Amino acid sequence: MESPLRSEIASTADAVAFEQAVIRAVHWLSRGDVVALPTETVYGLAACAFDGKAIERVFQVKGRPSTNPLIVHVAEEGMIGDCAAQWPASAATLARYFWPGPLTMVVPKRPEVPDAVTAGLDSVALRWPGHPFMQAVIRRLGRPLAAPSANLSNRLSPTTAQQVDSQLGGKIPLIVDGGACSVGIESTVVDLTGVTPRILRPGVIHLGALAAVLPTIQTRSTESAMGPDQAQRSPGQLARHYCPRSPLRVMGWTSEDALTQEIQRQGLEPKDVCVLCHEVLPAQSSWMRVSIIPNDPEAYARALYAELHQSDQLAPKMILVEAPPDSAPWDGVRDRLQRASGVA
Ligand code: TXA
Ligand code: MG
Repeated sequence: MESPLRSEIASTADAVAFEQAVIRAVHWLSRGDVVALPTETVYGLAACAFDGKAIERVFQVKGRPSTNPLIVHVAEEGMIGDCAAQWPASAATLARYFWPGPLTMVVPKRPEVPDAVTAGLDSVALRWPGHPFMQAVIRRLGRPLAAPSANLSNRLSPTTAQQVDSQLGGKIPLIVDGGACSVGIESTVVDLTGVTPRILRPGVIHLGALAAVLPTIQTRSTESAMGPDQAQRSPGQLARHYCPRSPLRVMGWTSEDALTQEIQRQGLEPKDVCVLCHEVLPAQSSWMRVSIIPNDPEAYARALYAELHQSDQLAPKMILVEAPPDSAPWDGVRDRLQRASGVA
């Protein structure tokens, strides 16, 4: 398929614009093309899940290895049955409490789901997104949409239409602007194909919330304990997946003086460094940029990628992030920061 020189950016700011954007998106998707659409987590690069050629195009546009499976987005009960060969009781429970929303469930797949979507696995990852635009497009098209995050492979996921445009502009016909994403990091992924439900990717729906309705749920094994086979089962879980271009480090500090000394010890000056902090806030103006992020896991997740994008654009010698708390509600944020720093 030919690439347009510029992507059309469609607004959804009022009811008429929303409806026109739905029509534009369905037009391209039904022709087998891929478009960027807003979801509540991050923007997605969407294609009809049952159109093998369109799925190939998703991998091509992102530069994504074909071994990394895609999440399929549904918005009607019947679509679950079109994709899943089994719907375990654990899935029904989690769906009752957390769908529509930022939760993805891996279940046995039906043969009709193209192998390209699932990277040849016999399971499929399903999510019923909460964003009204994504729901409207899926219902109008009448088909589920496969959609990875709308970034180039190994780069930061976009949480605004402008960030999609800066990575994929000109490669796809349409980017729909649904505003800043309200969740801000990718969905929690839970594997329900085994005896024990397991979190493969942490997110804002965290262990405590999941365990309240599904007490048997476990976290994934730690990365160091993860053998190559397991890593292959969910390749998005490989270290260094969500990356800014500048090196990123996560550390704690007790005062601005201690922080400055640590930076100088590494041969850097504050003006070389962008700082993201939520508790011990540097006051001096000598830093390249200081982002103060709310000290609350959900508000932090909402702000994180936008702050990383903006810091990264300044091409600092280092992005330094104040280490977040160790508790379960922060698991998703800690996971993305570890990956961005390449030490997960
Ligand atoms: O919030 C989200 O989930 C966003 C929005 C667009 O919905 N999508 C997203 O997609 O983050 P992506 O492709 O960037 O991440 C998909 C994750 C990867 O970690 C992948 O390995 C895992 O889901 N995954 C997909 N299918 C799987 C399967 N059958 N078994 C295990 N993991 C799977
Ligand atoms: Mg991604």
